[in-house]
Amino acid sequence: MKSQDIRKAYLQFFESKGHLIVPSAPIVLKDDPTLMFNNSGMAQFKEFFLGNATPKSKRIADTQKCLRVSGKHNDLEDVGFDTYHHTMFEMLGNWSFGDYFKKEAITWSWELLTQVYQLPKDRLYVTVFEGDEKESIPRSTEALACWKELVPEKHIVFGNKKDNFWEMGEQGPCGPCTEIHFDGRSDVERNAVAGETLVNKDHPDVIEIWNNVFMMFNRMKDGSLQPLPQRHVDTGMGFERLVRVIQNKSSNYDTDVFTPLIEKVEQITGFKYTSNEVKNISEEQNKTNIAIRVIVDHVRAVAFAIADGQLPSNTGAGYVIRRILRRAIRYGFTFLNTKEPFINKLVEVLANQMGEFFPEIKSQQQLVTNVIREEEASFLRTLEQGLQLLDNVVSKTNGKEVSGEKAFELYDTFGFPKDLTALILKEKGMMFNENEFDASMKAQKDRSRAASEVSTEDWKVLIPGNIETFVGYDQTESEVKITRIRKVDSKKDGVLYQIVLDNTPFYPEGGGQVGDKGTLVSANETIDIIDTKKENNLILHFAKQLPENVEAGFVAKVNTDLRTSTSKNHSATHLMHLALRTILGTHVEQKGSLVNPNYLRFDFSHFSKVTNEEIKQVEDFVNARIEEQLQLVEYRNLPIQEAMAKGAMALFGEKYGDTVRMIEFGDSRELCGGIHVKNTGEIWHFKIISEGAVAAGIRRIEAITGDAVKTYFTQQETDLDAIKETLKNPQDTLKAVVSLQDDNAKLRKQIEQLLKEKAKGLKGELVSQLQEINGVKFLATQVDLNPEGAKDLAYELGTLGTNLFLVLASAEEDKPMLSCYISKELVAEKNLNAGTVVRELGKYIQGGGGGQPFFATAGGKNVTGIKEALEKAVDFVK
Ligand code: ALA
Repeated sequence: MKSQDIRKAYLQFFESKGHLIVPSAPIVLKDDPTLMFNNSGMAQFKEFFLGNATPKSKRIADTQKCLRVSGKHNDLEDVGFDTYHHTMFEMLGNWSFGDYFKKEAITWSWELLTQVYQLPKDRLYVTVFEGDEKESIPRSTEALACWKELVPEKHIVFGNKKDNFWEMGEQGPCGPCTEIHFDGRSDVERNAVAGETLVNKDHPDVIEIWNNVFMMFNRMKDGSLQPLPQRHVDTGMGFERLVRVIQNKSSNYDTDVFTPLIEKVEQITGFKYTSNEVKNISEEQNKTNIAIRVIVDHVRAVAFAIADGQLPSNTGAGYVIRRILRRAIRYGFTFLNTKEPFINKLVEVLANQMGEFFPEIKSQQQLVTNVIREEEASFLRTLEQGLQLLDNVVSKTNGKEVSGEKAFELYDTFGFPKDLTALILKEKGMMFNENEFDASMKAQKDRSRAASEVSTEDWKVLIPGNIETFVGYDQTESEVKITRIRKVDSKKDGVLYQIVLDNTPFYPEGGGQVGDKGTLVSANETIDIIDTKKENNLILHFAKQLPENVEAGFVAKVNTDLRTSTSKNHSATHLMHLALRTILGTHVEQKGSLVNPNYLRFDFSHFSKVTNEEIKQVEDFVNARIEEQLQLVEYRNLPIQEAMAKGAMALFGEKYGDTVRMIEFGDSRELCGGIHVKNTGEIWHFKIISEGAVAAGIRRIEAITGDAVKTYFTQQETDLDAIKETLKNPQDTLKAVVSLQDDNAKLRKQIEQLLKEKAKGLKGELVSQLQEINGVKFLATQVDLNPEGAKDLAYELGTLGTNLFLVLASAEEDKPMLSCYISKELVAEKNLNAGTVVRELGKYIQGGGGGQPFFATAGGKNVTGIKEALEKAVDFVK
């Protein structure tokens, strides 16, 4: 079976068992502060396990793009070295939300593997949770009984909490699990050593392919386990591993998931990959293989993350993506000799290979390619710089050991990987001090950890079982009760309380729009809500303090001034999005947006600067629609297909349900959950205030609307009035400014001319003042020139003769300066040094400076010291 067919067969199988098939959620998570990337199929369903939301079907199946490169599950450093770990991988999964449980899950998994995929039964082993006394969780007898009906007992292995109790993170849903392993060894090996002894022992050919988790608990902050309201099934099968065992390979990289990418790398670099079947390869070939595996693995993670809207950057998820890409670049650089960007060329292969099932990679192919190419180019420059720096460090090092701090500096400021530094040094017969490096690294980590420490308490539930409803599209006030409260203490924000209500008019930050602010008012108290955010389907209201009586009834009131301004900016964003696509072209895709009460910011794909002319056109386009007073048409529960058929704009990397909310103003239609004006006339006016680049192929526009435009125009007018008044109210202000500039340029030229003449006159005069002392032609005097002029003059005089020692002082307002010139013979023979002279004499003018042995200058702060400085100059020649 081809990998494409294996994926299809999985989904069809579970569809036939009554499962709803859903698309993969984006790889980058938007509203979960505890997780950056989707790291398992279940992440998008976390809220269903916890009972915060209801799924649209009790049985769901999909294939999920996952990334395990940060947090609890992190495989990054393993990738490349073995044949079965990946940064991005697909996880095939089927779920039961309070529906079927162990019996069905186990029986179906066996049916699929052995009947549909026809894997040989005698190569399959299963694991069962042995129980944990400390946590008082019993052995999974039900799972054991199910398996006993399907497999011989010696193919059942008991596992402890580490292997057979799955937890998504430090906190959250968890439960015992049963895994299915595949023994891919040769018959000779299998006869010699029994398969069951190698399960979960990191054997490269006896690997886990499927994990069935039975979600029953919620891990609390204090480490205790609380039963979940219902029992669920959560399964995950590594797609790349499944393909490997079905295609009868001993490495994931030898399957058709990777071979097209590997062939492309071979073609570009000229290096050859050897399949895992080839044994006894040289050390060199092994390095080549590792590098190629790193590259073909990493490009998938990076490309899909970018297609889902995560650009490489210096913080958060963007930084993780940048690091993965840099790891790939650097393996190419060191082991495949690639000094030019090339990883971007793999995107095309990837798009052809996976575009059918994941259309985002096909439609964003150009952008993804460009972004990767730019990142590659800039990191290769960094590597070059780092190499030079390292050369410098080496040349200044006595002995064989470079300081670990220096190596860390390279790592920290140039992103120069530790092992690369080690490798280069090794080639020179040197090394760096690892302990010092590690100490510097640890110190830095401690600093940043201390700065970002957050401690989150468990929820205190006041009203259990409530599902919060959002009423903010229709109201800005609502009668509410508090259902749960949580305290969060962070270094950054101090102590804050998160409050959940039974219903709320507060809009939680999302889709670029900031969260509402406002108040909670009871008969006796008013509490300020300083922000609103969403977390796993809960709307969290942030407050600096809690009401004394949390059980009282409250009126939740949104700050409508702020919200109105925000809604104008949001609606204007939609109009501008359409304007950009109409004027610049449909290659424009939204790549990020911020909408707050003060302004709007919009990032989009476009490959050149937006010209002033185009900016004007965009403004006119939007303002025309504001003048037209287009009525908002809001569709709340439109089936997604219908919205798409109406031409609604949707964003890649957003998760949409079957029914969506669509916002329409005339011909602008977008899927959007945000708050909008009722009529575009309310926006009043739209004005772009800046345009620039944020990354390769990504532009950013900032704009304002409504009152902010009024303030902007008023300010412009005030400035213009002030200019007019300064210019004595000319008829034509622009003409007056231009003529002022012309006059200025003319005058500057004349002054330069005059100064030159003056310096020429001075030169003659100064030559006649030269004194002969000990065979040196000496002069120390103040000249009436600006510092630049004095410096030039000292230099010119100096080059006129031999055996000269000159110190010229000048002063411009309260800034004194000394210039010293010493003829080269004196420098060489008398050991005089202009740098030393200006440093010594500089003390009298409270300043310092330096330069070269024959010519140096010093600036200072004390003009009255000039006299003394000049008097002391003669000491040097005496
Ligand atoms: N959530 C389980 C896993 O990721 C299935 O292994």
